[in-house]
Amino acid sequence: MAANPIELQPYSQLSDEDCRQRIINAKRTLGERLVILGHHYQRDEIFEHADFSGDSLKLSRKAANSKAEFIVFCGVHFMAEVADILSRPDQISILPDLSAGCSMADMADLPRVEQAWKELSSVIDPDQTLTPVTYINSDANLKAFCGDHQGVVCTSTNAQKILEWSFSQREKVLFFPDQHLGRNTGAKMGLELDEMVVWDYDQPMGGLTEQQIHQAKIILWKGFCSVHQMFKPAQIENFRKQVPAGKVISHPESSYEVCQLSDYVGSTEFIINTIRDAEPGTDWLVGTELNLVNRLHQQMKDQQKTVKFMSPTVCMCSTMFRIDPQHLAWVLENLVENNVVNQISVPTKVAKSARVALQRMLAISI
Ligand code: 13P
Ligand code: SF4
Repeated sequence: MAANPIELQPYSQLSDEDCRQRIINAKRTLGERLVILGHHYQRDEIFEHADFSGDSLKLSRKAANSKAEFIVFCGVHFMAEVADILSRPDQISILPDLSAGCSMADMADLPRVEQAWKELSSVIDPDQTLTPVTYINSDANLKAFCGDHQGVVCTSTNAQKILEWSFSQREKVLFFPDQHLGRNTGAKMGLELDEMVVWDYDQPMGGLTEQQIHQAKIILWKGFCSVHQMFKPAQIENFRKQVPAGKVISHPESSYEVCQLSDYVGSTEFIINTIRDAEPGTDWLVGTELNLVNRLHQQMKDQQKTVKFMSPTVCMCSTMFRIDPQHLAWVLENLVENNVVNQISVPTKVAKSARVALQRMLAISI
């Protein structure tokens, strides 16, 4: 590595267009040494540079199969961690802005999950009865916890398959951090709402009685996505009044009530494919992040499809939005100069256990 990495500060003075040219040039110079992965929530000025785009599952597979020396992840922190865990030791995973986290992922941490496990062990035997399942939107050490406790990772695409597998192993599931994905998936599998209880990590014993714990099939962590919680049943009801033949499609991080009222529920990739494959002239109300919906709206115009955002207020994922052309140009130009900046490197021991849970997921969700 060269002694002095190029500093970030001067890039803040550059226009998006200047950065665009620099990104294109750096990509050309780096060639096959580089792969850029872009999540669907990325802004257009970033998305256009992605070699592969996708939802969390698709991008984790791309990271696992990539041969590139540098994997630049235009997404959020947990995604770059997954890329690091699943790639070869000599590959380097980079997040262009280290402050691009996920507020939902931050709602669960190892001390609180370990505390929950310990408290639950006074009522049930967790090792015999409980499969820990972490949504991929979580810290690497929670994936490691699942790897170490016969548990698994899931994404919004494979959550049902993963829960089916989990119930084939043990009778109950501890699901974190997103209560909504857990509840919506459990309901789809036929579980009653009172079989899915919420573990409030701020209260002793999660705020649950012993009876509730004994009766629960899924113990849901009290986490949520601040973007998807903005979608409300009233917004769907209004749309249905205005466009009776219209279709509603939502991401499963939305509330149970919103998902129940939706015609389709699925991952970002599922949402895009469903609308793309629909009949020309159809109308859609979409409950997921704004950048994805705006892009679909533009792309579908040719087919006379209308694509409308569910909420009347702007709900962008502010952390996804932190990845901007200035940061991308900065990391790429550093790579051209043989400087690695913003590497995401999961400690070996954590990565080893997390890999167990991730590879289990990939094997189950084939
Ligand atoms: P997907 O895996 O569906 O892309 O979801 C990731 C995410 O963070 C949604 O908020
Ligand atoms: Fe996290 Fe929500 Fe942003 Fe997805 S949309 S990355 S869950 S904060």
